[in-house]
Amino acid sequence: MDQIQSSPRKHVRCVLVVGATGFLGQKIVGNLLRHSDLSVRAMSRKGPPVDAAPGIEWVRGDMMEPASLDRALQGVDIVISSANGYMKESIEIDFQGNRNLIEAAAKARVGRFVFLSIVACEKAPEVPHFHAKIMAEEMIKAAGVPFVFVRAPAFLDQSSDYIANAVKGGRFFAVGDKTTRWSYVLTDDLAANIAQAAAWPGEDIANQTIDIGWRDGPKSQQEIAATIAQVTGRRLSIWTVPWGVFSVLVRPVRLMSELGYDLMRMFLFFRRGVFVADVATQERFFGPAPTSRDAIMRWAKANGLKRASD
Ligand SMILES: NC(=O)c1ccc[n+]([C@@H]2O[C@H](COP(=O)([O-])OP(=O)(O)OC[C@H]3O[C@@H](n4cnc5c(N)ncnc54)[C@H](OP(=O)(O)O)[C@@H]3O)[C@@H](O)[C@H]2O)c1
Repeated sequence: MDQIQSSPRKHVRCVLVVGATGFLGQKIVGNLLRHSDLSVRAMSRKGPPVDAAPGIEWVRGDMMEPASLDRALQGVDIVISSANGYMKESIEIDFQGNRNLIEAAAKARVGRFVFLSIVACEKAPEVPHFHAKIMAEEMIKAAGVPFVFVRAPAFLDQSSDYIANAVKGGRFFAVGDKTTRWSYVLTDDLAANIAQAAAWPGEDIANQTIDIGWRDGPKSQQEIAATIAQVTGRRLSIWTVPWGVFSVLVRPVRLMSELGYDLMRMFLFFRRGVFVADVATQERFFGPAPTSRDAIMRWAKANGLKRASD
């Protein structure tokens, strides 16, 4: 009699991505699809985007509506959140919305919460969106949900890439001064690390706080501009908005723009020179961190800025 051999079945874990339609969130989803032992559920208030990739289950959910979170979290093993409100809507989403999501995740007894936080956020209570991140970290710890805090530094590439646009015109706009160093990341690398944190098979990643950055450390804006000039073969003039402008404008700006105030406070925090990622834990789990040159080369290529000879 023929024997039928059954292959050992892999346990497919369900990952819910909150913030899946965002600039970074879409890249996280793209990376998760490469992990065959994960099924990907993506949450949005609007339903699936028109160009949704196959292989993703879309759920409607709003961080400000707890009942919708309970539905979205049914059967979920791992939650990732990169969602935010401070950039385009209201920082209430970063405070109350995160609180609702954490409470719902604890109620649903998820096995891992991968929360996108920010490097050194505990050192900047005066920066509203940094403060929201440390508050969320503390709430997740208090709720007893196993977590991975992936702490990002400044994005080299923003959704509207002001650095690339200026470089095309031969300029580099510097904030404050040319010499203070802080850490950066390319969002492609950050998204890959967040997906790795979710897919990590062992429990040794539980309750880790992982700074993300470059192997060769933080960089000044002069150093960033010099590397960009080197890899693109362009001459760049650096235009600096001095710290004094931020110090004078930060209070009046608050009357007009919550976001403007938040960003000015953030830049003034950068001035302290402590917005620096320690990549030791990143390298332990995700392998060697990229160097600044490697990241800037890939960024330049993606933006059509590389020399024709390269
Ligand atoms: N820019 C930087 O230099 C920097 C540095 C460090 C860390 N970060 C962090 O990086 C993340 C940026 O992510 P991103 O680029 O993907 O953001 P994004 O493009 O601004 O997208 C925002 C996402 O949040 C979701 N969202 C907002 N309010 C929501 C609500 N009430 N309920 C459910 N979802 C909601 C949106 O979903 P829908 O609209 O589809 O519902 C969308 O997917 C943030 O967490 C930010 O703090 C940024």
